[in-house]
Amino acid sequence: MNFELKTLDLSAAANEKGDALIVLLSQSFKPGKDVLSALVAHTLKVGDLETKAGKLLVLYRPAGVACSRAVLAGIGEGSAKEVRQALGAAVAAVKAPNVKKLVICFATLPQEETVRAAVIAAAETSYVYTTTKSKPEGRSIQRVVMGLPGPTKIKPMFDQAVAAVKGIEYAKEWANRPANHATPSLLAGAARSLAKFPNIKCEVLGPKEVAKLAMGAFMAVAQGSEEPLRFIVLRYEGAAKSESPTVLVGKGITFDSGGISIKPAAEMDEMKFDMSGAASVLGVFRALAELQPNINVVGLIPTCENLLSGRAVKPGDVVTSMNGQTIEILNTDAEGRLVLCDALTYAERFKPRAVVDVATLTGACVVALGGVRSGLFSGDDELASALLSAGESSLDLCWRMPLDDDYAEGLKTSFADVANVAGRAGGAITAAKFLQRFTAKFPWAHLDIAGTAWKSGAAKGATGRPVALLLDYLLTSAK
Ligand code: BES
Ligand code: MN
Ligand code: ZN
Repeated sequence: MNFELKTLDLSAAANEKGDALIVLLSQSFKPGKDVLSALVAHTLKVGDLETKAGKLLVLYRPAGVACSRAVLAGIGEGSAKEVRQALGAAVAAVKAPNVKKLVICFATLPQEETVRAAVIAAAETSYVYTTTKSKPEGRSIQRVVMGLPGPTKIKPMFDQAVAAVKGIEYAKEWANRPANHATPSLLAGAARSLAKFPNIKCEVLGPKEVAKLAMGAFMAVAQGSEEPLRFIVLRYEGAAKSESPTVLVGKGITFDSGGISIKPAAEMDEMKFDMSGAASVLGVFRALAELQPNINVVGLIPTCENLLSGRAVKPGDVVTSMNGQTIEILNTDAEGRLVLCDALTYAERFKPRAVVDVATLTGACVVALGGVRSGLFSGDDELASALLSAGESSLDLCWRMPLDDDYAEGLKTSFADVANVAGRAGGAITAAKFLQRFTAKFPWAHLDIAGTAWKSGAAKGATGRPVALLLDYLLTSAK
């Protein structure tokens, strides 16, 4: 999908060629002397249109408009959230096989965050997954002209939004692929292909190298599967080597059956999405490839399947993690924290300014926060507030959860330094407390995206979250 930013007032918008024109109308809209203004003013006056976000009026071949379809769409006060809602409805209303070029124009000058929301929402509403269809009917909308009434300083944010879309769609693509089309080796291939962009390097470790690093927790998860594990190291080097990087760690379980502590059959297919954290890290790198900012970022992805077999790890087994801590695996379905803890230890070698791990870690987080906000855990107030505000401004929301040491009580065991599960109570927090044990050497935050990484039901599919949040965080903290 191709985005272009243009200066278009309503009279220029009426002349802009395309298959559909969407006019975004805020409550402060003042009509000019052009045809579209007159039309809008009339529909508002007679009550056929309201400027409330989500209200639409769809027109066919309106006089004086070059596009054959036009949608007048209310955006209320013009906030980013209202524009997202309006475009969700408006793009859906004109989506048709022969609508290929879309003109979206703001009738009043928007804030930069509003423009970002518009770009991301237009892409979101028109996205189609096709990779494993034999007769793909792909996305029809190929070009979007974003029109603003008058010159602005919005270009950098517009570029960030277009890059975010590239990243979000890369993350969606890999998260949506079924597990047999997104094995650890195939994920590593995707990471390698990102290294063709400037300033990106990729290194992939296999079972031998990982054994040499003594990543006993990660290996324990992988040992039940015939599919070999991969440990992916991505580097984006846009700043001087002396500048310490931010490290992103993504959980890459390409299928989570639960292992010997097997999951129930219903909806088990959704556990192909258990590599959404990894996909979001790939997505962020796809966006960095596009934007080429002056920052350093490292991406770490421990990836494997969590299956059952005669070789699978068993409840009660004790393994030794890379930093020497022994772990009693009481539940093989709590595998995410096992692959992440060794990746967190590996992160130490980069002397990071911050480490953020991203994981579909717990069903408990879905219960706590649903699909609206990701769970944010951090002992570092500065890092937590930076991530929180990145989420607010990119509309990729998260919510801070507690990390009191009392929550770690249940992880105590007589047979190892730590158990991999506590009781059912506070499950998202006890998982974070487990991870925290491996983060003494750097500022750390954990995003539990179990509720936000994909949607279930009829519209089942990956969301590409939290690529927008992470990208905003990385670019903002560089300023
Ligand atoms: N991948 C799951 C978490 C998950 C569950 C994400 C449902 C999205 C929807 C994770 O590996 C897992 O199985 N966690 C267990 C932990 C438990 C055994 C302590 C869970 O949440 O049930
Ligand atoms: Mn699991
Ligand atoms: Zn899992």
